[in-house]
Amino acid sequence: MTDADTYKRAAAARAVELVSDGMRLGLGTGSTARPFVELLGERVRAGLNVVGVPTSEATREIALRVGVPLTTLDETPELDLTVDGADEIGPDLALIKGGGGALLREKIVAAASRRMVVIADQTKWVETLGRFPLPIEVNPFGLAATRQAIARVIADCGLAGPMTVRSGAGGHPFVTDGGHWIVDAALGRIPDPKMLADRLLAVPGVVEHGLFVGLASMAILAGPGGVRTVERS
Ligand code: A5P
Repeated sequence: MTDADTYKRAAAARAVELVSDGMRLGLGTGSTARPFVELLGERVRAGLNVVGVPTSEATREIALRVGVPLTTLDETPELDLTVDGADEIGPDLALIKGGGGALLREKIVAAASRRMVVIADQTKWVETLGRFPLPIEVNPFGLAATRQAIARVIADCGLAGPMTVRSGAGGHPFVTDGGHWIVDAALGRIPDPKMLADRLLAVPGVVEHGLFVGLASMAILAGPGGVRTVERS
């Protein structure tokens, strides 16, 4: 296990302590959410009674394997707590997510939760979002036109940087669980995530983007110095 894996597991273990009997949970996606689901499974096997909504097919498989009972947002449209990872965590706990391609379901699940807690190793903590390329989920129809419209929004926000369609297996475009593609925008710095977030969503063809603004209420960060929590002010 690498140091990063150890820290991710430590953050996940602290998040599992927030779970209490009867909770309806959102289950995040990625290498940090994975140990959370696995540790949750241990508690379920010890008698904890919870249900979870997975944010991806990958997480669904993990949850089923470790015995976490699953539900859907159609059956359970309001959740108590979502625990998920992030690619970057910035001021006011604004996040970049979607490195694993699950941003759409992750955002729907987080928005349906009374509380979202983000877990990460401390290298994800940044002063300004944007070093990690921003994932923008798009409908494949009319991609060239959508890309141009996204580029105009980016320029209007005073930002710049190359955009690439994410590749998946065999060099084909990566396809999300929802059947969409992802454009990654390497912007370097996003000083005003809210402005960019709102304007991107106004572009026809943009299904969702990886800026999570005002959703996470607490971050659990783990590193060589231990585990610390940061609350959104
Ligand atoms: C999945 O689409 C992402 O939003 C992940 O939550 C994010 O990429 C963090 O993943 P790791 O925990 O693997 O770094």
